[in-house]
Amino acid sequence: MSVFDYLSPFVLGLIDPGVLLFFAVQAYIQVLTDTVFTHHSIPNLQAIRGKAFGKFWEKISAPPDPSAPLAGSAALVPPLLAQASGVVLDVGPGSGTIIRHFDSAEKSISKVYGAEPCVELHPLLRKNAGLTALGRDAKYETLLADAMGPSIARELKRVGVVGSVDDAVEVFDTIVCVRVLCSVPDLDATIADLWKLLKPGGKLLVCEHIVNPWRKSEGSMIARVVQSLYMLIGWSYFVGDCSLTRDIEGALRAGEKRWKSVELGRYFGRAVFCYVTGVLVKRGP
Ligand SMILES: C[S@@+](CC[C@H](N)C(=O)[O-])C[C@H]1O[C@@H](n2cnc3c(N)ncnc32)[C@H](O)[C@@H]1O
Repeated sequence: MSVFDYLSPFVLGLIDPGVLLFFAVQAYIQVLTDTVFTHHSIPNLQAIRGKAFGKFWEKISAPPDPSAPLAGSAALVPPLLAQASGVVLDVGPGSGTIIRHFDSAEKSISKVYGAEPCVELHPLLRKNAGLTALGRDAKYETLLADAMGPSIARELKRVGVVGSVDDAVEVFDTIVCVRVLCSVPDLDATIADLWKLLKPGGKLLVCEHIVNPWRKSEGSMIARVVQSLYMLIGWSYFVGDCSLTRDIEGALRAGEKRWKSVELGRYFGRAVFCYVTGVLVKRGP
């Protein structure tokens, strides 16, 4: 038994991000010292952050024993990805450990494009994709792109999905955002761009951690304060621009008129990693 086994779920929920931050800082120090002392080069801090994030995410996203039951936010992902169909955009797939959860929908999926800007994660992303039913059927393709329209359009042109970047509208039947909208530089612009990329009637599937709804009965003021503390001590800097205090649900609901339906649910309201998950359907033709 470890010391964590004696702690209540509430306390664990407050400590969890601290453990992740420790690993992120450790990866940063390793990459920085390696650059300076082994390669004797002047550190480019942006490049070091990117490399360190890749190293950190590789370490913490190592797939668990596939036969073990999923717990916490991991359990929210399979039922969500089971709703994917047609041509799919997987935004920020990271190391690809969640791609296996598309497998239950494989027959309804014609292709998944994974838009991942962290190039250091691409080899592991391709390897993990290759271990899934989608990968074995050559239905998963990696794009070097962020979540913004122009970046995705360039890659869609490169892989031949569109003839020109201007044709990159209403391309996807499903767009998936799992733990990625916390890191995009401009949340509203990203949601608007992803909306344009969706076909009418297409689905946006989201599973995101959000600012703790501490004013609501299911929220926690302590968790909200702890979110701000983690942000103050450098969470965003070390964890790939991730924000713990983003109102992603609010941003999605703000554009409610663009959607035919918005079905979102909140989970783990007392934790630092409080989640919103669900489906938004774009208005049909
Ligand atoms: C926390 S990881 C989540 C990975 C994966 N979706 C999962 O849940 O296992 C966030 C991912 O988003 C990517 N990311 C960061 N900024 C992004 C952006 N502006 N556009 C698209 N992806 C981004 C990161 O490189 C990283 O792979």
